[in-house]
Amino acid sequence: MARKPVMAGNWKMNNTTGEAVVLAQEISNRYYRDWSDKVDIVVCPPFVDLKSVYNVFEFDHARIGVGGQDVFWEKSGAYTGEISPHMLKEIGCTHCIIGHSERRTMFGETNEFVNRKAKALIAEGLTPIICVGESLAVRDEGTTNEFVTAQVDAAFAGIEEAQAAKCIIAYEPIWAIGTGRTATPEQADEVCRVIREKIEELYSKDLAEGMRILYGGSMNVGNVEGLIACPNIDGGLIGGAALKADSFCDLIKACM
Ligand code: PGA
Repeated sequence: MARKPVMAGNWKMNNTTGEAVVLAQEISNRYYRDWSDKVDIVVCPPFVDLKSVYNVFEFDHARIGVGGQDVFWEKSGAYTGEISPHMLKEIGCTHCIIGHSERRTMFGETNEFVNRKAKALIAEGLTPIICVGESLAVRDEGTTNEFVTAQVDAAFAGIEEAQAAKCIIAYEPIWAIGTGRTATPEQADEVCRVIREKIEELYSKDLAEGMRILYGGSMNVGNVEGLIACPNIDGGLIGGAALKADSFCDLIKACM
């Protein structure tokens, strides 16, 4: 089954609103409408930049989705500092990253949180980009596949097949994030294949074959071709290289 690739830029805690608008405009200026027939493009700026970035793409009729980098699962209430799926939806978001390793390690995000966030996003009609990935210690121990499949298992707990079909998974080995040390295409494809097998075990072959599984971790113009050519890798979740319009657009073009 041919899966449409996804290229998602994770801006992390970068760009003031002014800078975000400039970057979004630079991306939009380089963008051709037919790109979106071939690849789903998503940009995930900080919360405070979301609306401004959305407005740039909307004004230009660029079919580029905008997403949050995190979310809380409740709709509203006394949750100081949090943002709900409903709020993201209301300002035009289509996607949201959840379970990023930086949130798991620095902000105590657990598998259970990821599962609740996934359910809340789906209920609001947003696409969760569910991040999974092992640390160097886990890889050195030789238990990467078990570790990552347990994360997938937990993230999808209690989610029906029709809902699961709306999710995207991003495999991001922690040791490759922001380090310049990319997983080899073989390493990345192997784990993405194992994730796909887990989805088949949890749901069905059809769903597994349709699920978009991205690679993330120091993806750049030098390594994208090899990664994208892998049978189980359907795009990228890009950090550093998404902060420049030229490199982000070059990565998108590599998927077409
Ligand atoms: P990186 O980040 O491309 O800078 O390694 C990827 C990510 O953390 O999503």
